[in-house]
Amino acid sequence: MTPFRTMRSAEAFRVSLAAPDDFEGWRDTARRLIQADVPPDRIVWDSPADQSTDLFAQGERRLPAPPADAPQPRASRDFLQYAKSAILHSDSKRFSLLYRLLWRLQTNPRLMDDRADADVRGIDELARQVRRDIHKMRAFVRFRVIEEPDGERYVAWFEPGHHILRSNAAFFVRRFTTMRWSILTPQGSMHWDGETLQEGPPATRADAPSGDPVEALWRKYYTSIFNPARLKVGAMLKEMPRKYWKNLPEASLIPEMIAGAQAREAGMVEAGAQDFGVLPDTLAGIAEAVQSCRRCDIGCNGTNSVMGEGADAPVLMIVGEQPGDNEEELGHPFVGPAGQLLRAHLKDAAIAIEQAYVTNAVKHFKFTLRGKRRLHQNPTAKEIDVCRWWLDGERALVRPRIVLALGASAARGLLGRTVSVQKERGVPLPLDDGSELWITTHPSYLLRLQDHGRADEEQKFANDLRCVAARVSELSH
Ligand code: URA
Repeated sequence: MTPFRTMRSAEAFRVSLAAPDDFEGWRDTARRLIQADVPPDRIVWDSPADQSTDLFAQGERRLPAPPADAPQPRASRDFLQYAKSAILHSDSKRFSLLYRLLWRLQTNPRLMDDRADADVRGIDELARQVRRDIHKMRAFVRFRVIEEPDGERYVAWFEPGHHILRSNAAFFVRRFTTMRWSILTPQGSMHWDGETLQEGPPATRADAPSGDPVEALWRKYYTSIFNPARLKVGAMLKEMPRKYWKNLPEASLIPEMIAGAQAREAGMVEAGAQDFGVLPDTLAGIAEAVQSCRRCDIGCNGTNSVMGEGADAPVLMIVGEQPGDNEEELGHPFVGPAGQLLRAHLKDAAIAIEQAYVTNAVKHFKFTLRGKRRLHQNPTAKEIDVCRWWLDGERALVRPRIVLALGASAARGLLGRTVSVQKERGVPLPLDDGSELWITTHPSYLLRLQDHGRADEEQKFANDLRCVAARVSELSH
């Protein structure tokens, strides 16, 4: 391509796009220019964020009109896919690279298959960097809560590397539909009021609040999901580059976590939390693998495992402790007495169990024999930690937005730490995939109580389920 600086001014066309991420504007103009047979080296592309100082482009001319019978330009789906991402890159040469590729595609429709081509490699690299920036934003935006006259607003400051704010906004709308939030960046801001998304001007760090209970929640969350057994410092820095650290409340914990990782890893290996390799990528595959799992003593006791079951793509996942006598015999979770009580309460709270996915933290039945009777025994922390491998796998496939843990074993299976149900019930905790964890008591515990004690605890259980029902209903719409 002829560099712009060697162009004669009379030949230059300047295209000023409306915004740095204006894909439609670029595409429509590029089509017209291809139809009018304008080669790449005669165009200077610009947008408000990419003000070109190219003097040779100053001799601006009206863009030529294509002939009426000009054929539609060819653009493979592959190319358009790349172009939509690459256009969000901050490199000011992206528009011209895309146009050059589009130009070349007219005579070489298979160009995108040529991975050795410098332009193809260029667009691939831009698109990859944009995807990574989008992912980082999703992972590292942290909200602080502020009080406004009409209620709470969650405000986050973020510095993206590329022009991804607008295209990433839909993700945050979906994830935080019911919250009122603002994301402030040096390039612009986005504001969601629960119904409409509005764009605002660029902001500075000082415009965003800092230090509040949301930070405390994130810190707590981060230490709870931090898995020292998986710690590889290099990989961690790659995933969470230092430039993002300053905006992350939990980053202040990183040196401490790295220092303590070795000791905690030893503790975890002791506790049996391990990586068992490749997980099956279907629920049926997990069910089959669990059946022959012999990684702890419970799995070795010769009983049938009981896999979770329920609706496809449910909002809610309910996690119990382990199958009981009836469950093991019938092969379904929560079909015995505890299941009956649970079902009655769910019905009262207007939670449709058939629209949820129901499973257990431990997939085999642990018991001790008393005559012919099989009496339930609690799983140990180590057994729960071993079985967490399967529960995590199930959760990754089911992808619920809300998880209800029944009792401390279920909560341990989800958080990987000891949980006090009475202290941690009633408020949602964030899980590693962004879903919401609610903790309540186990129905078997209620069955063991009597009189007033039972009535009080059932009341609290019912209250917890009502909170979950409200969230399920909010997130279902
Ligand atoms: N208790 C549980 O925790 N899970 C079941 O499936 C049955 C009883």
